[in-house]
Amino acid sequence: MDIAILGGTGDIGEGLALRLAADTSHEVLIGSRDAGKAETKAAEYTTELDSRGLDRQVAGFENVAATERADVVVLAVPPYHVGDTVEAVADALDDGDVLVSPATGMKRDDDGFHYHKPGAGSVTRIAADAAPDEVAVVGAFHNLAAARLANLDADLGIDTLVIGDDEDAKGIVADIAEGIEGLRALDAGGLANAPEIEGLTPLLINVASNNKGLHDLGIRFQ
Ligand SMILES: NC(=O)c1ccc[n+]([C@@H]2O[C@H](COP(=O)([O-])OP(=O)(O)OC[C@H]3O[C@@H](n4cnc5c(N)ncnc54)[C@H](OP(=O)(O)O)[C@@H]3O)[C@@H](O)[C@H]2O)c1
Repeated sequence: MDIAILGGTGDIGEGLALRLAADTSHEVLIGSRDAGKAETKAAEYTTELDSRGLDRQVAGFENVAATERADVVVLAVPPYHVGDTVEAVADALDDGDVLVSPATGMKRDDDGFHYHKPGAGSVTRIAADAAPDEVAVVGAFHNLAAARLANLDADLGIDTLVIGDDEDAKGIVADIAEGIEGLRALDAGGLANAPEIEGLTPLLINVASNNKGLHDLGIRFQ
């Protein structure tokens, strides 16, 4: 499959791009609002893979051009720009394409990070509301730590929770996720369950920052 990662120039985009390119045969397309930035980051990822003896080419495009080429489009952008990013690429989406939202809204105070639930109910729901009718939206990758993904020496051994109202689309995303070594995809039900999953991310960050030696935490359900 051709997988575009919009905002693939950022932290979680880098981690997902490197893992997908290293562990799967999917084509990985880096999207950015700036084509030159996408090309530069894609070249960096290709160099990193090459340094590990992995002959994989990662390509970079402006977000619309990346979306046009992709079957699956990951919205690796800040949570409050998920809606406008979907709107910006909507015309480039084909019927049957799948959008994936890993985004979580958080706010921080003296006690730590807190889930910042948007008015729509969840960021995943914002993506679904902005998406064309014939494009399914799936939530996944919310609770993964970008640095752990981007460090290809790190074993994962963690889960990602996958939610969506379209079972076929959810299956496609679960298969992609499971292609990453050490990542298990668990079905967490429909899109209405997004707030519970998005709300786990600030919990993980708070646990990591309050406990020595625990960083880049992930979840394994047992
Ligand atoms: N970091 C993590 O560990 C992690 C883990 C799980 C989920 N997430 C979620 O993944 C998403 C991205 O997180 P991140 O840490 O990778 O963020 P980030 O590095 O701050 O940003 C990712 C990319 O978003 C693009 N971007 C910035 N402002 C934008 C705007 N106004 N409109 C459209 N695109 C914009 C930028 O790409 P260009 O400038 O190239 O367009 C940037 O490289 C967030 O929603 C976050 O909740 C993050």
